[in-house]
Amino acid sequence: MNLPRSYLMCPPEHFQIAYSINPWMDPGAPADPELAGKQWLRLRETLVGLGHTVHELPPEPGLPDMVYAANGGFLLDGTAFGARFRHPQRAAEAGAHRRWYEANGWHYAAPTAVAEGEGDLVWTGQWILAGYGFRTDPAGHREVQETFGRPVLSLRLVDPRFYHLDTALAVLSDRDPARIAYYPGAFSGASRQVLRRLFPEALLADPADAAAFGLNLVSDGRHVVLNAEATGMAAKLAAAGYLPVPVELSELKRGGGSVKCCVLELRR
Ligand code: ARG
Repeated sequence: MNLPRSYLMCPPEHFQIAYSINPWMDPGAPADPELAGKQWLRLRETLVGLGHTVHELPPEPGLPDMVYAANGGFLLDGTAFGARFRHPQRAAEAGAHRRWYEANGWHYAAPTAVAEGEGDLVWTGQWILAGYGFRTDPAGHREVQETFGRPVLSLRLVDPRFYHLDTALAVLSDRDPARIAYYPGAFSGASRQVLRRLFPEALLADPADAAAFGLNLVSDGRHVVLNAEATGMAAKLAAAGYLPVPVELSELKRGGGSVKCCVLELRR
């Protein structure tokens, strides 16, 4: 059974490829702002249509990556563990997130190490999987464990195209036992072993699935909203008993993100 969820999204009002901080971003190949806006709205409507609630974070000028709301925090048990961004271009997003969490009744915990929210912190329903190697610092993983009193398992990312954990791994069902999907090639050999030991039943993505952002998905345990280009991944999900819900996000992909990057989950 899938329960209604609450999400936070930030409209791409100021979205553009103004700089390059990941291999997908090419300021010479700008995004179409109008199309980006339409695609974002469609994503929002899709989540609402599935029965979920979407809250809006007001976009701020000069922060073109703010549309990737998932990077602004990790929220669980009424506490918002905020963000501290690796790159100065995104630093001011952390304050905008903090103001929203505090205004909306969340207890706020500020990271002292680099931590990029749900980009690198993934709740399985039991544990927190935490990525490092490109953005979030392992010291941030320990702060997350001290904040929530939940086991945090560190996983090393090794492919620069999959610089955030949520580009390489997703939780399909957070009911015990959790079901995840991941692309093994994004992880170090030892981290792959950890994933195999913890999740022997995981759905494995191939390089094409990962490159189409097929793992950057949002699942409510039944419906799986994912990038329409990820047709192979959609087929694998359907074969595993999920209902894939494809959405076009070509413009936001130019910034190095897709469905999951745009959607932060609010877990009271
Ligand atoms: N341009 C953004 C960055 O490089 C994209 C963030 C994508 N977000 C994500 N959760 N993977 O920081």
